Amino acid sequence: MYQASLTIDPAFRVAPVRRRTFGTFVEHLGRCVYTGIHEPGHPTADEDGFRRDVLDLTRELGVSTVRYPGGNFVSGYRWEDGIGPAASRPSRLDLAWHCTEPNQVGVDEFVRWARKAGVEPMMAVNLGTRGVQEALDILEYCNIESGTHWSDLRVANGAKEPHGIGMWCLGNEMDGPWQIGHKTAREYGRLAAETARAMRMIDPGLELVACGSSGSSMPTFGAWEAEVLEEAYEQVDYISCHAYYEEKDGDLASFLACSTDMENFIASVVSTADHVRARLRATKRVNVSFDEWNVWYLSRFQAEQAKEPPRGWPVAPPLLEERYHLADAVAVGGLLITLLRNSDRVTAASQAQLVNVIAPIMTEPGGRAWRQTIFHPFAQASRYASGDVLRVEPVSPMRETAEFGEVPLLHAVATRDDDVTTVFAVNRSTDRPLELTLDARALGEVRLVEATTLSDPDVYAVNTADDPDRIAPRANPDVETDPLRVVLPPVSWNVIRLTH
Ligand code: AHR
Repeated sequence: MYQASLTIDPAFRVAPVRRRTFGTFVEHLGRCVYTGIHEPGHPTADEDGFRRDVLDLTRELGVSTVRYPGGNFVSGYRWEDGIGPAASRPSRLDLAWHCTEPNQVGVDEFVRWARKAGVEPMMAVNLGTRGVQEALDILEYCNIESGTHWSDLRVANGAKEPHGIGMWCLGNEMDGPWQIGHKTAREYGRLAAETARAMRMIDPGLELVACGSSGSSMPTFGAWEAEVLEEAYEQVDYISCHAYYEEKDGDLASFLACSTDMENFIASVVSTADHVRARLRATKRVNVSFDEWNVWYLSRFQAEQAKEPPRGWPVAPPLLEERYHLADAVAVGGLLITLLRNSDRVTAASQAQLVNVIAPIMTEPGGRAWRQTIFHPFAQASRYASGDVLRVEPVSPMRETAEFGEVPLLHAVATRDDDVTTVFAVNRSTDRPLELTLDARALGEVRLVEATTLSDPDVYAVNTADDPDRIAPRANPDVETDPLRVVLPPVSWNVIRLTH
């Protein structure tokens, strides 16, 4: 058994817990929208065709914001196709995912769904095939009360109240050569700045996100952020980060330490943004919107595509339908800990995506919906992270990994509100439990409310429609209270809650 310890002290405050850390993403991709959130013929469908089973799971997941409608999809999207009577909406080629988009769900339906789910919509505008004017049009449609062409059209389409969308992404992954309308950093930075400037003429209070790099391994990483922000610093509030992780070549130890890359990624983007701030003598700070992150077996998808390039233009085919195992869930838990640890500068994030497509929620068309393994760390972190984020000064054994060098086996963070302190901890060890001693003296008298663990002897066990609770948090039986000690099984995500 390994031994580790951590210290909880309210003085180690990082920042408030940001509700927007618990955002997700709905893209017109595969079955995320159609047979995901929307399926009019489904037995649980409501009067708007939304699946109630998915709405319930979205609420249970504790989602705060939902980014929409893409992703790569947005860079070819004509938002006007998705408004008005559904029967007269056009079907279009979706070049990003080689599909046909039937446009039965558009911005009005999405906002209606978001209100039912209790989430904040976060819209992306198309800066691939389109530009300033179309961004202004959709903003006018969504946020102006009435009395103009686009706002009156929204009212005529049944949405009397403005949608009041406050957070907008200026395009998607414009650094990626795969993106429709891919641009250089200068081209994109200028366009983002001009679009933002014009959007603020309609609504100065908007929160705007400029595209950062679509991954830290992009050849333009670093330079891209610097050049984009040189053009757009004063006009935007956020720079985005996107990152996907996977276990490569059976190297589980590196995979479980993938949050090391996320940690370095955030540090690099924050320093780049602050460097531009200094050069421009700006006063405000640009924060990070980590608006796509997850485990995604992207190299498998790319290899499949290379072997068999997509043919035909199907509507809502199954795409990127990862079945997540326990180790994936533990990696996701580690990424959530890293997002929380960086809450001073990462003030928004979106796990990609919500349903069916690299998602915590899976559905069968016409049938059941269930929680994937990765559902659980997200739901627990969203439910229990509250008040302030605290550093916990872990003392942990180290392990050498092929990808990240030496990493601590214990990865942890805590949050504290007036009544409860919660520790979120991952044991990255692949072979041994880790005995964690918690020094909580600075909290005064504490009582253990609950210690749960997400673990399994089979680290590749998955949840299925027939066995939906194979992997779920269970009470941790290995707990001592005086002094406070919890044994974390190998490859596990853990939540320890204390009252004071
Ligand atoms: O989330 C899947 C895809 O990953 C998104 O469409 C794109 O932005 C990213 O490359």
